[in-house]
Amino acid sequence: MADLTTKYLGLTLRNPIIVGSSGLTDSIDNILELERAGAGAVVLKSLFEEQILIETEANLRKAYENDMIYSAKSESLDYIDLHIKEETLGHYIKLIGEVKSKAVIPVIASINCVSSVEWTSFARRVENAGADALELNIALFPSDMSADNEKTENIYFDIVSKILKQVTIPVALKIGPYFTNLAGMINRLSKTGINGLVLFNRFYSPDFDINTLTEKSANTLSNSAEATNILRWIAIMSGKVNCDLCATTGIHDGQGVIKQILAGATTVQVVSTLYKNGIGILNEIADELNKWMDDKGYNNIQQFRGMMSQGESTNPSAYERIQFMKYFSEIR
Ligand SMILES: Cc1cc2nc3c(=O)[nH]c(=O)nc-3n(C[C@H](O)[C@H](O)[C@H](O)COP(=O)(O)O)c2cc1C
Repeated sequence: MADLTTKYLGLTLRNPIIVGSSGLTDSIDNILELERAGAGAVVLKSLFEEQILIETEANLRKAYENDMIYSAKSESLDYIDLHIKEETLGHYIKLIGEVKSKAVIPVIASINCVSSVEWTSFARRVENAGADALELNIALFPSDMSADNEKTENIYFDIVSKILKQVTIPVALKIGPYFTNLAGMINRLSKTGINGLVLFNRFYSPDFDINTLTEKSANTLSNSAEATNILRWIAIMSGKVNCDLCATTGIHDGQGVIKQILAGATTVQVVSTLYKNGIGILNEIADELNKWMDDKGYNNIQQFRGMMSQGESTNPSAYERIQFMKYFSEIR
C-alpha cells in the first residue's frame, strides 16, 4: 500500500483528493460524511464578498459609490436578499468551529470575491474560528470592453496584499484562465506570498431555451474532457512557480487524479464527480491511485509528481502547440 500523504499549503493531508467548494461542503453532517468517505481535505462552500459587505450598510453603499459590479441584475444580490436574514456570517464562523472540533481532516474556508474593499478584515474572523487555510475564489469575469487590462489584473494583487495583512493561515487563490498572458499572471501571483493556486475556476455557462425564449444555465456539472486544459496549464507551470498548484475541473476518477499529479499538481479538487457518482467515488479514486502506484512501484507521491510536466518532458511543444496539424490530419 503506497503512502498517499500530501503536503498542501503547508498542511498535511492523508491523500491529495480535496472536496472542492460546493453544496456538498456547506454543513457539518456533509463534511463528516465526506471525511468518512475518504476526502483528504474540504473547501467549505464560499461566502460571497457581498454577504460580508452587507453586514454594514455603510460598506455596501461605499461599494455602490465605487461603481462596483453589483448591478441590479447581480445574481449575488438576489442571493443575499434571500439569505441575509439567516445571519450568514455568524453561521459560517460557527460552521468552521464545528468542523474543527469534529473533523480531523483540514478545513479550508472559501470566500468568493471580486474586489479588495472593506470585506477583507473578515478573513481574520475566519482564521480566529480555526480554519486551517483560506481559499479566495477571485471570480472576475472581464466582459467590459472599456476595462483596462492592467487595472483588472491589479485587483488580484490588491486582494492578495490586503488579505495577507489580515491572516497568518495559508492562503490559496482560485482563478480563471482568462488572462492576456496566463503564464505570466500565474507566475506573478505565485510570488505574492500566497501558498497555492487553484487552476481553474469553472465559470457559469449560459444557454438558451429556444421554446420559451428564456436564458438558462448550461452544464452545471463538468465532464472529464474539461480536464485537459487544466492538465496543459499545470504541466506548463509546474516547477516554475513559488507555490503549490491544485488542479480543479473535470477530474472525475483515479486516472484523472494521476494525470494531474504527473503534470505537477500537489492536490486536486473534485466536485461534479461526487454529484454524479455519489461520495463513495472518493474511496474508489484513492484505491485507483494506490493500485497504480503499487503497479508502478511508487511508494509515495513525490516520486512521480511533475514527472510529465513540461519542464521534464521530452516533447515540451506538446503543451504549447494549440493546433497541431499532425493530430488533426489523422481524423478523416
Ligand atoms: C453545485 C455547485 C456549487 C459550487 N459552489 C461553489 C462555491 O461556492 N465556491 C467555489 O469556489 N466554487 C464552487 N463551485 C465550483 C467547484 O468548486 C469546482 O471548481 C467546479 O465545479 C469544477 O470542479 P468539478 O469539475 O470537479 O466539478 C460549485 C460547483 C457546483 C457544481
